[in-house]
Amino acid sequence: MKKLIFSLCAFALTATAVAQPLMKWDEAYRKADAVIKTLSLDEKIEMTHGHNKFFLPGAAEKDLPRVFMVDASSGVRINYSIPDQNEVRHPLRTTQFPSTITIAATFNPELAHQFGKAVGEETRMSGAGILLGPGMNIYRSSQCGRNFEYLGEDPVLASRMVENYVTGMQSTGTLACLKHFLCNNTEFYRRNSNSVVDERAIMEIYTPAFKAGIDAGAASVMTAYNLLNGEWCGQSKYVITDLLRGELGFKGLVMTDWHSVYDWKKIVLSGQNVEMPGDMQFDFPASVRELVDRKELSEKDLDKMLRPMIATCIRFGLYERFKNGQPNEDHLVSKMPEHLKVSYQTAAEGTVLLKNNGILPIADNRQILLIGPWANKLPQGGGSSKVEGYNHITPADALRSVTRAKVTVREKPTMAELRKADIVVCATGTSDREGTERPFALLVADEELIRLAVDLNPNTIVLVNSGSGIDMSGWNDKAAAVLYGWYPGQNGFEAIADIIVGNVNPSGKLPMTIERSFKDSPAANLVPKAASLSKAVGNPNEKLFHPATYDVHYSEGVFVGYRWYESKNIKPLYPFGFGLSYTSFALNDAKVDNSVISAKKPVTVSVTLTNTGKREGAEVVQLYVTENNPTVARPKKELKAFKKVKLAPGASEVVSFDLLHKDLAFWNENSHKWQVNPGEYTISLGTSSADIDAQVTVSVAK
Ligand code: GLC
Repeated sequence: MKKLIFSLCAFALTATAVAQPLMKWDEAYRKADAVIKTLSLDEKIEMTHGHNKFFLPGAAEKDLPRVFMVDASSGVRINYSIPDQNEVRHPLRTTQFPSTITIAATFNPELAHQFGKAVGEETRMSGAGILLGPGMNIYRSSQCGRNFEYLGEDPVLASRMVENYVTGMQSTGTLACLKHFLCNNTEFYRRNSNSVVDERAIMEIYTPAFKAGIDAGAASVMTAYNLLNGEWCGQSKYVITDLLRGELGFKGLVMTDWHSVYDWKKIVLSGQNVEMPGDMQFDFPASVRELVDRKELSEKDLDKMLRPMIATCIRFGLYERFKNGQPNEDHLVSKMPEHLKVSYQTAAEGTVLLKNNGILPIADNRQILLIGPWANKLPQGGGSSKVEGYNHITPADALRSVTRAKVTVREKPTMAELRKADIVVCATGTSDREGTERPFALLVADEELIRLAVDLNPNTIVLVNSGSGIDMSGWNDKAAAVLYGWYPGQNGFEAIADIIVGNVNPSGKLPMTIERSFKDSPAANLVPKAASLSKAVGNPNEKLFHPATYDVHYSEGVFVGYRWYESKNIKPLYPFGFGLSYTSFALNDAKVDNSVISAKKPVTVSVTLTNTGKREGAEVVQLYVTENNPTVARPKKELKAFKKVKLAPGASEVVSFDLLHKDLAFWNENSHKWQVNPGEYTISLGTSSADIDAQVTVSVAK
């Protein structure tokens, strides 16, 4: 009986521990300093690096338990590659949610919150304290193998998604980990790529989403594999101490990416808090012990390195929660049915209808020929974020379950079958994965099949499942419809099938531009022509010891994504923020409550959205800002706010935005500060970066 009472009390304690307001950072650091005073030099050295690949280090004799961490921004990866499996108790299964970019494509911050909460609950269910996500590196190149794990090309869209993902996740007591800091925008020999980036681009494009996550209370950050302006991020004083902690004000735990650092003296003095995974087999140029013995590092240096990790674990109650080892919160399994709803809703709101000649939604009395190697597949991104999931539903399963229409599956249809088919749905895509870049073009066989289908049958719908843009120029014009479904998760094709047959009205928007040709991209010359893209590159171990590095010049500066294409007057195939619906909308009557904006006085911009179609639907009203007479080269427009609004047919709603003075700012590289110039600014309101329906002007007084 006693045991039961204790365990109930323990549960109540844990529950209240999560419910209590968080301890202030100052108090957490004071407690950390007191703990550090009790640690021996050996214990301090032991705590500079991870344990058993996925544990934060601890000191058992001092009641500092190790804390288990798990991967993946899109659900919990059950990791059987952890060396000592006896130290870990895995859940029976976890939910394979849609890929992170799908969250961005929903343009629905509230859904991002629910998504983060669901993954946070499954992290606790898995006996872990930290989820190694969300990933949020900006989509700079369509070929980057990890775009599926991130949130698209725009810093404001990514920021709204990150802050809500973080608050949702951390509301469960799971700590989020913002990654990968910073400018980790290619997977091509990712450990050896030196991102050469100017200060404006760092501040205006690559750090805002991290800043949003930090301001939302994110507990930890993971540094990136690449070098930034000449030093590996994981051991760079500029990146960690000056930028992350100084400029962005981060107070929590910083960890390296796995096998991403090479010099203990730099690591300890950079502001880094823990080297992961902790089996740095090359203690070079010297181990921490040798450096301390040689007085190249002091015990105080180690104290400084450990403080944020210990303070973070104290502040978020992790030492309490893990004091008896991996906590058992199996009862959270009961939340998994809810998580399936979040997963479905993310796929339903994140799938983007790019083209539709009226063939969609398909009526029940039609016959569907479902073709392509992806018809019976559940596509997902590969690498550390890969979540097994359960009860997987493929396009074929899903379509057959939502329609009485006859669905015939032919991975390799004959020409006669293609000609004869009433409607063809061609399921295609790419297998993106961490550690590789992937070509913008589809595999030859997949490309040829689509071209054949659209040539032989005008009623061909193309369903793309990928983590990035692909080359559609060879068949887009002939396709009757194009749907972009990302990696939709274990039950995401239920949502996509519901869209195809009209049970769901699509409302997704592109979180990145889809260019007509990769040579139009700002990253077109990133990878040497001859280089092979389609296999994992850059074996970490062979490169780890004396990695040769190569420079990636971010010569486009702040002109990433639509900012680039608009500045170069390059018309993309599909613009950022674009997505169709089964109904139609109109935006008009844009107003501003005051034509002068100041630091003290924001303005309110409003516009009337009307559903001019015949069925309920949701539209994303986007607000872009243009400085009319800039003193530095600025993008033609920059997204500063957006709102997703659902309306019944015929209904109208006034959509309002508070526009702040700081929304007009650019980063001044001379003063190293944000600056708002006096003068006129055009505020554009539209339903994509290329579909601007209304404009107003505001001015900043001298
Ligand atoms: C990987 C990834 C990182 C992941 C970590 C642990 O290489 O870059 O995102 O969280 O290592 O698997």
